[in-house]
Amino acid sequence: MIPGKERPDYGMDAPPVIRNLLVAGFGSIVLSFLVAQFSWRAAPYVAIFLLWMGPWFILSGILMILSSRFGKYREREHLVDLLDLDGSEHVLDVGCGRGLILNEVASRLSSGKAVGIDIWQASDLSGNSPEVTLENARREGVEDRVEVLSADVRELPFEDASFDCITSSMCMHNISSSEERAKALTEIMRVLKPGGRFAILDFRNSKEYAEQLTKLGAIDVKRSGLRFKMYPPSRIVTGTKPRIDEGDET
Ligand SMILES: C[S@@+](CC[C@H](N)C(=O)[O-])C[C@H]1O[C@@H](n2cnc3c(N)ncnc32)[C@H](O)[C@@H]1O
Repeated sequence: MIPGKERPDYGMDAPPVIRNLLVAGFGSIVLSFLVAQFSWRAAPYVAIFLLWMGPWFILSGILMILSSRFGKYREREHLVDLLDLDGSEHVLDVGCGRGLILNEVASRLSSGKAVGIDIWQASDLSGNSPEVTLENARREGVEDRVEVLSADVRELPFEDASFDCITSSMCMHNISSSEERAKALTEIMRVLKPGGRFAILDFRNSKEYAEQLTKLGAIDVKRSGLRFKMYPPSRIVTGTKPRIDEGDET
């Protein structure tokens, strides 16, 4: 970020989930005291169960807030480090939201370009909109290297082999069926150039992504161990689309 400029704001991930966890947490604690007043035989057990569950829900909600406020800023640097950019790349960030990864990528480009696509679901990210993403790019001083489009990852509006690298953070799990996620991964492989690299971060389905991408012909596919900077803890799947001659060998 340029010193003296307004700070970018990358929003709160999954705000309804955080709200539900906090409501369920405080609700369970209140309910446990109410249940404890009843004289049924099971009442003390139910009350103790609720008293245990409440703090777990609250803790999960607080960890999600901390992840959005601090953890994801640290994890984005690691994710982009994995791409080993030289600055000239044309990079796509799928499900870019308010530009967390997109702008980090753009900050490492010189002649390259960072393109973000999203369907801007407010339930996945607070204040989610292309205007906010571009404003964050401006605040980071990278707006000249950033482009934002409205598009679904399952139907990318790009020619085959358009990008040198593709990133994605906490997007793919929002697609509920594995068939639809496979469609998205097929699109990612389609628009990646031969020799291009991908890094996909998510808290669920990473094994499925690694297997599917391997089936689609990706090479050097690696699935990281659990990473705890974000909550829920996440994994990163990396790999490369083979060049034509490499693809023939495998
Ligand atoms: C939790 S947010 C993460 C945003 C950003 N990548 C980040 O790490 O801050 C998930 C994003 O994925 C987007 N998304 C969900 N389903 C999508 C789809 N099918 N195609 C494109 N974007 C999608 C949502 O609109 C949201 O912006």
